[in-house]
Amino acid sequence: MRTTTLGSDGPDVGVIGLGCMGMTFSYDMETPRDEATSISVIHRALDLGMTLIDTADAYGPYTNEELVGRVLVGGHRERAVLATKVGLLTDSIDVADPGGSSPSGGRDGRPEHVRKSIDGSLRRLGTDHVDLYQLHRVDPKVPLEETWGAMAETVAAGKARHIGLSEVTVAEIRRAQAVHPVASVQSELSLWTRNALDGVLPYCREQGLAFLPFAPLGRGFLTGRFASPEDLPRDDFRRGLPRFQQEALRINLSIVEQVRGVADRAGATPAQVALAWVLAQGRHVVPIPGTKTPRYLADNAGAADIELSAAELAELDALPAPYGARY
Ligand SMILES: NC(=O)c1ccc[n+]([C@@H]2O[C@H](COP(=O)([O-])OP(=O)(O)OC[C@H]3O[C@@H](n4cnc5c(N)ncnc54)[C@H](OP(=O)(O)O)[C@@H]3O)[C@@H](O)[C@H]2O)c1
Repeated sequence: MRTTTLGSDGPDVGVIGLGCMGMTFSYDMETPRDEATSISVIHRALDLGMTLIDTADAYGPYTNEELVGRVLVGGHRERAVLATKVGLLTDSIDVADPGGSSPSGGRDGRPEHVRKSIDGSLRRLGTDHVDLYQLHRVDPKVPLEETWGAMAETVAAGKARHIGLSEVTVAEIRRAQAVHPVASVQSELSLWTRNALDGVLPYCREQGLAFLPFAPLGRGFLTGRFASPEDLPRDDFRRGLPRFQQEALRINLSIVEQVRGVADRAGATPAQVALAWVLAQGRHVVPIPGTKTPRYLADNAGAADIELSAAELAELDALPAPYGARY
């Protein structure tokens, strides 16, 4: 896979990474977990050059880092650019508000929490450093400068090579930059969630920060797999999201139909078109599609070779906004 640099002085990574969240958390919770397949998916991702492996202490909590740790033993650690996150408390997240937008809900940005959490993450991941340590969410109760100062300590201590932010505003990136360099920003970006295009993504380009789109497949919707809430397992987290309600899905399917039209003409799959559009937003953009399915992994890797024409990009740019809020 072709590569790009993670931020201005980060490591080289494949232009498409792998999000591991769904392997233990959030999606398909009632399906028995097939750990062996998840492990083979991560190994295959590394073989394919999808080297940025994204996890978080909140996924599970902890089970996702433990899984990734089990994968990376035996000489695989050096092949991965390992990214994890701190600052989101899954246990206290209200499922009705999974974005954690309630005033204090589900966030902990206290410096002591960061200092303690990095050691837990390293233990579970079975490594002495992560390549990218990301602040999952800014805690409104703690000045960002204090949280970011503790994140910077993890770099000084050799426990993290680089530090990044997630779901932040440009003003918040600037505040963090005044304390310590920001390597990356992870935020949702896909054909049906484009807010980052108006500010954060161009700011990252201008400043030499990597932009890591999460949920680049619209949590799977843009692949055309989900036409009704019944297509999702009963306790799947997406069942609670506004865009996945019956009426919203019915309306939003017109987006998928148009993506499928572009895909058919390009000789690609809808997932590949969704990823190719994200990749077209800049060389600093490294999407981290999530999958625990070997077939989907190969499909997603193929997106790196798809070059959409100007007309196809314009058609995708003109897609209607989705019905329903993100959370
Ligand atoms: N920073 C944050 O706050 C934040 C929030 C959410 C996610 N993330 C990160 O971003 C990563 C990706 O986001 P996401 O997993 O929420 O959403 P996503 O990547 O948009 O979509 C994942 C869903 O799409 C399915 N899928 C993947 N490739 C497919 C293909 N080629 N064809 C058909 N279906 C396909 C997956 O199925 P299977 O699972 O069945 O294979 C899964 O249901 C996560 O793993 C996590 O690392 C970060």
